Amino acid sequence: MLRVGIAGLGTVGGGLIGLLRGTLAERLGDRLVIDAVSARNRGRSRGVDISAYRWFDDPCELAADPSIDVLVELIGGSDGPARRAVTIALTRGARVVTANKALLAEHGAELAALVDAHGGALAFEAAVGGGVPVIKVLRESLAANRTTSISGILNGTCNYILSTMEAQGREFADVLAEAQRLGYAEADPSFDVDGMDAGHKIALLAAIAFGNVPSVAALETHGIRDVSLLDIRLAAKLGYRIKLIATAERSPQGVRTRVAPALVPFAHPLAGIGGALNAVVISASPVGVITLTGAGAGAGPTASAVASDLIDIVEGDVRLPFGVSADRLGQPVAAGGAGDEERAFLRLLVDDRPGVIAAVSNALAKHGVSIDALIQDPSAAVGAVPIVLTTHRRDVRAIDAAVADIGVLDAVTAPPLVMRIEDIPRTVT
Ligand SMILES: NC(=O)c1ccc[n+]([C@@H]2O[C@H](COP(=O)([O-])OP(=O)(O)OC[C@H]3O[C@@H](n4cnc5c(N)ncnc54)[C@H](OP(=O)(O)O)[C@@H]3O)[C@@H](O)[C@H]2O)c1
Repeated sequence: MLRVGIAGLGTVGGGLIGLLRGTLAERLGDRLVIDAVSARNRGRSRGVDISAYRWFDDPCELAADPSIDVLVELIGGSDGPARRAVTIALTRGARVVTANKALLAEHGAELAALVDAHGGALAFEAAVGGGVPVIKVLRESLAANRTTSISGILNGTCNYILSTMEAQGREFADVLAEAQRLGYAEADPSFDVDGMDAGHKIALLAAIAFGNVPSVAALETHGIRDVSLLDIRLAAKLGYRIKLIATAERSPQGVRTRVAPALVPFAHPLAGIGGALNAVVISASPVGVITLTGAGAGAGPTASAVASDLIDIVEGDVRLPFGVSADRLGQPVAAGGAGDEERAFLRLLVDDRPGVIAAVSNALAKHGVSIDALIQDPSAAVGAVPIVLTTHRRDVRAIDAAVADIGVLDAVTAPPLVMRIEDIPRTVT
């Protein structure tokens, strides 16, 4: 019999208890029992009866209790009580299940080393994609493959905002305010809309797929605050939809991870992912291209992923957290360095006067950046005339240098907006 202690009884913790006592009760029988729980406020009503469980005010005491075989950490946060409790449990060789991407992205290598040293386990299917089973797909189902790239929509809040802007013709601030009122976005939305939540998740996927230390330091993150309805409309004219895309790519220099708003062609598997859904596209050899999609958050989907880790532990199916021992994990490289190439979308607001397009073309040509398509749209006038252009594939540093030159042209009335254009994933042999 496995004795489980659950630290954190909020959205996911409450959902987990409901699932373990509901549809999973018969399947698990007495092979897994909830023994103890911990949260901040003992008196809070939680929608599930917790009176049968031992109560701990302090999750670290729960983690240290030798009769607890598995600690389920559902508190959240990269440091503080979550990190302390998980560290205590792993140090005494206990098994840990967590949904905490921030903790794992910041301290994953250190925690994996504790598993190596003390023989416990650290499972985290729920940490990326909520109910979408992507961790085990990468670590287990695709273990025989060499991954080339992963790209994903990993933040449901951003995808909801961008989808709603497009569908309802509204601006970012307006949709964000409504999402906050409806409880879809946090009161402080920065973690989501500035890209760090998706960054934590892609750092974890990259660690598993490429055998690297999860690294926040190597991440490049850009959020969606600067994306306007005008950009969405102009991108659509060129055949693209704007999404917040998290990518991890293998390159000759190493593995690069980034999160940024990007243009995806309408035929791209991520273009049709609407609302708060999550999706991940994996390109690997020899398997080819795989797309996974589903609910990226919520009590039920996330509890489903946490419970799947518990079932693995009950069945004795325990893997190393990142697929290899911690001392064999490599280091990712920072995005944007030598060899990092992209096709770019550039949106400019300019004065309507002769010679502007020639000046923009010259600035691009000076850095060897060639134009693929260009449209000028006076009908979308916002005090200045929008010009959008797409470039051919070129070194990111050359594109950035050209954009810097363009940004200081007299006729350019606002800072240029640059976004990467995603290619349709191909099978690489
Ligand atoms: N919500 C989702 O859809 C979702 C999806 C994927 C992953 N996750 C991850 O799952 C984890 C939990 O998320 P959640 O949405 O369930 O969070 P939540 O609703 O905010 O619940 C957090 C829980 O932790 C407890 N807690 C906070 N500080 C504590 C402390 N110092 N000592 C003991 N307990 C403490 C809270 O206690 P009180 O209830 O007493 O305040 C609460 O029960 C996070 O790592 C999150 O990133 C969530």
